[in-house]
Amino acid sequence: MRTRPLKVALLGCGVVGSEVARIMTTHADDLAARIGAPVELAGVAVRRPSKVREGIDPALITTDATALVKRGDIDVVIEVIGGIEPARTLITTAFEHGASVVSANKALLAEDGAALHAAAEQHGRDLYYEAAVAGAIPLVRPLRESLAGDKVNRVLGIVNGTTNFILDKMDTSGAGYSEALDEATALGYAEADPTADVEGFDAAAKAAILAGIAFHTRVRIGDVHREGITEVTAADIASARRMGCTVKLLAICERAADGQSVTARVHPAMIPLSHPLASVREAYNAVFVEAEAAGQLMFYGPGAGGSPTASAVLGDLVAVCRNKLNEATGPGESAYTRLPVSPMGDVVTRYHISLDVADKPGVLAQVATVFAEKGVSIDTVRQQGRNPGSGDEVVIEQGGGGRRVGGEASLVVVTHRASDAALSATVEALRKLDTVRGVASIMRVEGE
Ligand code: HSE
Repeated sequence: MRTRPLKVALLGCGVVGSEVARIMTTHADDLAARIGAPVELAGVAVRRPSKVREGIDPALITTDATALVKRGDIDVVIEVIGGIEPARTLITTAFEHGASVVSANKALLAEDGAALHAAAEQHGRDLYYEAAVAGAIPLVRPLRESLAGDKVNRVLGIVNGTTNFILDKMDTSGAGYSEALDEATALGYAEADPTADVEGFDAAAKAAILAGIAFHTRVRIGDVHREGITEVTAADIASARRMGCTVKLLAICERAADGQSVTARVHPAMIPLSHPLASVREAYNAVFVEAEAAGQLMFYGPGAGGSPTASAVLGDLVAVCRNKLNEATGPGESAYTRLPVSPMGDVVTRYHISLDVADKPGVLAQVATVFAEKGVSIDTVRQQGRNPGSGDEVVIEQGGGGRRVGGEASLVVVTHRASDAALSATVEALRKLDTVRGVASIMRVEGE
């Protein structure tokens, strides 16, 4: 074993960075044995130098991250500060000064991954980022390496723990969105400003990264259709239950049936309770990968938190250090297919639409006509009367007849597969009907 250590610079020493430093120290001997050389923490760049950091030599702490990555003797830079800048400049500067980079920065990779990969390649260095997607769950390396000989057609996953916790809480307790969010905040699952999670930005960044790797093309966060969970209601969850489904925030990356394009989207969707993703509870993540030869694979585990994310960072650190000792680099960007990303309108799936309608003769026929005119085939219709004390519910399968209860009714239509564009046109036309008082919710149905 080489005795001269490989030098590591750590950018950021928060929840993840401090765990990385701790494990590097406590597992130093194992890491050295696995790599073939010791690894030494050579510097830690932080914003607040006065904060006490147990187990880290204060002499290693600096506020000058730029000087640290420019030192020239650093073998690997670990970037766990997040955000676009200064992370982007620090990473490119690290490559220019001879270091490889391990990053957990999903936002940056989803925004500018191509340029970072190009910089790594130009300088003959590695860029690894297992921790950027779903914390401890190995996904990037399996897609980049283990499945490199296969053809991935679909990636379907729960990649945000905060939203999964909220939706799971709504499902199990009947709570509304705000109540469930409050509980997530109180338990530390949601941040004080939960926007990135609940509006789907976090999941969209992960979807972009996964789609790019899975389909060997370039997908940026701006290519990902995004809807969050803030408008999911207790009624949606109850409706899903009646259909034998639950509601999850899904990241879905698909190769088009003709193989000529891909799509990437994040939105809440109903999935059958029998689907493996339906049993992913609390803040856990899981990703389903469908590949031509492998079939269906599922990756499951903790998708966030200091220790799980540090596990992914350290796995990358070992890989990058091994490459360094072998004077080699691991796989770089693979974007040779150059498949375009199609707009959301081209996505084909099923829909659950909840309408508030006047409950009088002919309404059902009017509604059905709109669906027919727009080429969207109805699978089932469920009507629930709104008369005081009525509570009537009639399930009308294809060809069945509705029961008029007078006053207002809630009509739930579930469609067969149709394009998102056709569904949008249908909803627009439905809104124009006098007898349709409102479109209460539209939710896609996946995983069937
Ligand atoms: N906030 C994310 C989540 C973890 O809830 O899954 C970091 O991506």
